[in-house]
Amino acid sequence: MFCGSVGGASGRRFPVLVACGEAKLSSGAFSAAKVAGVCNVDARNASSALRRLRCMSVRTLGPPFRTYLRQEGAVTPRKEGPSGKQPREQKWGMAPLSAEKLSDSRRSGPRFKFNLKMSKCRKPPLGSGPETFSPDVLADIAELFAKNFSYGKPLNEWQLPEMSEIFTYDHMEFNALLDLKNSLNEVKNLLSDKKLDEWHEHTAFTNKAGKIISHVRKSVNAELCTQAWCKFHEILCSFPLIPQEAFQNGKLNSLHLCEAPGAFIASLNHYLKSHRFPCEWTWVANTLNPYHEANDNLMMIMDDRLIANTLDWWYFGPDNTGDIMTLKYLTGLQNFTSTMDTIHLITADGSFDCQGNPGEQEALVSSLHYCEAVTALMTLGNGGSFVLKMFTLFEHCSINLMYLLNCSFDQVHVFKPATSKAGNSEVYVVCLHYKGREAINPLLSKMVLNFGSEMTRKALFPHHVIPESFLKKHEECCAFFHKYQLQTISENIRLFECMGKEEQTKLNNLRDCAVQHFMQKFQLKPLSRNNWLVKKSNIGCSTNTKWFGQRNRYFRTYNERKVLETLSWKDKVAKGYFNSWAEEHVAYHPGQGSFLEGTTANLDCHLWHVLEGKKLPKVKCSPFCDGEILKALNEAIEKSLGGALNLDPNFRTKKQYYCSCHIFSEELIFSELFSLTRELQDEQLVEPSNQIKCLLVGFSALNETKIQLPLEIVQETAELTTFSCSLLHDGDPAYQQLFLNCLLQSLQRLHTGDAMVLPVLSCFTRFMAGLIYILHSCFRSITFSCPTSSEPLRTCAVLLCVGYQDLPNPVFQYLQNVNELLSVLLHSDAPQQVLQFVPMEVLLKGALLDFLWDLNAAIAKRHLHLIIQGEQEEITSSLELQN
Ligand SMILES: C[S@@+](CC[C@H](N)C(=O)[O-])C[C@H]1O[C@@H](n2cnc3c(N)ncnc32)[C@H](O)[C@@H]1O
Repeated sequence: MFCGSVGGASGRRFPVLVACGEAKLSSGAFSAAKVAGVCNVDARNASSALRRLRCMSVRTLGPPFRTYLRQEGAVTPRKEGPSGKQPREQKWGMAPLSAEKLSDSRRSGPRFKFNLKMSKCRKPPLGSGPETFSPDVLADIAELFAKNFSYGKPLNEWQLPEMSEIFTYDHMEFNALLDLKNSLNEVKNLLSDKKLDEWHEHTAFTNKAGKIISHVRKSVNAELCTQAWCKFHEILCSFPLIPQEAFQNGKLNSLHLCEAPGAFIASLNHYLKSHRFPCEWTWVANTLNPYHEANDNLMMIMDDRLIANTLDWWYFGPDNTGDIMTLKYLTGLQNFTSTMDTIHLITADGSFDCQGNPGEQEALVSSLHYCEAVTALMTLGNGGSFVLKMFTLFEHCSINLMYLLNCSFDQVHVFKPATSKAGNSEVYVVCLHYKGREAINPLLSKMVLNFGSEMTRKALFPHHVIPESFLKKHEECCAFFHKYQLQTISENIRLFECMGKEEQTKLNNLRDCAVQHFMQKFQLKPLSRNNWLVKKSNIGCSTNTKWFGQRNRYFRTYNERKVLETLSWKDKVAKGYFNSWAEEHVAYHPGQGSFLEGTTANLDCHLWHVLEGKKLPKVKCSPFCDGEILKALNEAIEKSLGGALNLDPNFRTKKQYYCSCHIFSEELIFSELFSLTRELQDEQLVEPSNQIKCLLVGFSALNETKIQLPLEIVQETAELTTFSCSLLHDGDPAYQQLFLNCLLQSLQRLHTGDAMVLPVLSCFTRFMAGLIYILHSCFRSITFSCPTSSEPLRTCAVLLCVGYQDLPNPVFQYLQNVNELLSVLLHSDAPQQVLQFVPMEVLLKGALLDFLWDLNAAIAKRHLHLIIQGEQEEITSSLELQN
């Protein structure tokens, strides 16, 4: 089995998994037989092998194989209870268990010993002993794994309405469903005063599936094993997601929307490889680009373990944001995937942090779900499967979406995996056998026209066109999941108040039982690291130990969060919400700046390319800085200084700043520079006989500083220090062009061993990080000094670069080209700017990443310190005036 890549017509590469070394298999029967280990099968005796297989107990085969047989019609889902009753685990196409059946099952005694008893040839579950559990515990866990509702539609009754009815009416909510929504929110409201960390700790313990993830991670060596990994494994093993066609042709293509950090992909990889699924697998993924400076941290999951190492297979669209909610993205994606002949499986797991307004989660994410569904319906191949995460399904827009999916697919199921936290609202809509784009084309064309975040203003379908029979089913579905969620939250609240020893023991028992159930039911098999998507990761922000900054720093409960939202900026400053940053800055001393040792790596710039994207309105996130610090700084700039650049000149002068922190004098900076140069000479890295000089970039005057190095000053670049910080930070194309221009001029003046002092605003963007990488490659060592100014938002850091080596000519030429492009874009009012010119894989490597984090943190904390100090002084003096 190997993981390789194929080139598309456009030169794109997609990851391809080839199982068992068989690139193409002529028939599904052949593939299936071979996978199941029926030996010496070839194409001629494949059918007889399949017959033999059909005689084997389906439970002894891995899930993909069972799925295949079911699809082939060879096996009907077998009744699993020894009593011959309805199986406890819900399979597709079956009605949910009714309350009576459940209580029946509780009384029914030890019938629900797991299937282990029935399948004698099966090995005991991985990592667990031959434990037995009481009937109550078994029934409880069986129920946990049975949260499935199937729509089971009536023949020909659910049809798409006339086109004239589309997007013509306002939304009208359904009273019965609104009642469900309100009753759920009433219970959720009881959580508002709970301390978030304590509540999370509590629900982590009461979560019956809470031990599964760590067990799976260890016992089957699962890559990127998160909750999402386990959830998707449950879905994969519970529904025939992979269409027959993929088995028959030995080729599987999948597309994963809103997928960062990528656990669904890792889960699918595990499933295919560990069960030796006989096909080439190609995948493509979408998500909000975690490296795009204008994307909001709150909307993303900042874990790039997979993304950083598989960047070629993530499509971020023409504007590089990865935002699926634009029409341009959809068009670009269709183009990007055009070399895949058909897409068999699409997953869409989009969501974002709705903690600010949890009661309206469904409405808040409805536009995102619409875009995911339209994208899927536009790209999925006939007969394909679609898995869409949704939350509660109470609102008119969700009803419409569910109706659309029911009209577009042969089967629709709503499934809540056991490993999805029982107290949250998320469910997965599993749609099987797509009828094809042609079947719904006129509607899709209209839906695409309404693409964007505003599309849900008018209702997709009016009330009167949705059949009663559908509404009835849908209401049943909502009530089914509502009941479980309500029960879980109420039980969690009860246990939060008081949980006795006995209850703790019972919960522990349930959790152990859930692990066994999971392992047996889904027959997980180990996978060697060799078969992982990322065998060895050494790049990415996630490798940076400082990456996982503390979230929710300022509040502990939901109510506290709400109070914080109502506070004005001044109130927050007065209450000391930002003091920790200022304190950290006061503790910062000269000589603390980190070092970046020169690299011996060759600059392979012939493999690089320039990436352009939409002009940045603001820099909201950065892979090179702690998200919390950047967020606090942006708030400070916005609220205290009105965004800095738009500032009325009078506004700024009225503020007086007195800096209580260290200002590094020029003398201090030069003495550091000198000692660094001496060190290099001592280590004989630089010839002592060389007349070393120091180039000062952008310094206009030197206040009689005594230094021990001959100086050369690049006067014409003095503007560099006059640039002030704004919400755009170093993302301002004018600043970037000036900086690059200075750099190119300066580097031409340097000789081997020389030093350079270069002022820098910040390095939040990929563009600036690219330039630091260039410096990293052509100097022996770089460090920084910060602050150098007592005025807030003025350029406040300098890079001290020592031991100039060389800048290879091709790199110089490349940078010249970038510079020319910047100049053209700047002078043409173009809507785009250069975002990146050094590949992300290079910028995300250890030492450089650490250096940039330290540099940016020092700069941001210093800005914050000065702004907050100024604000606090103003508050104090106005209080004094009042008294
Ligand atoms: C729950 S996570 C997905 C987890 C993923 N399935 C996994 O297995 O690791 C939700 C993702 O939706 C993404 N998302 C939210 N809004 C989006 C948008 N407009 N476009 C693309 N992705 C979006 C978020 O960035 C986040 O990564």
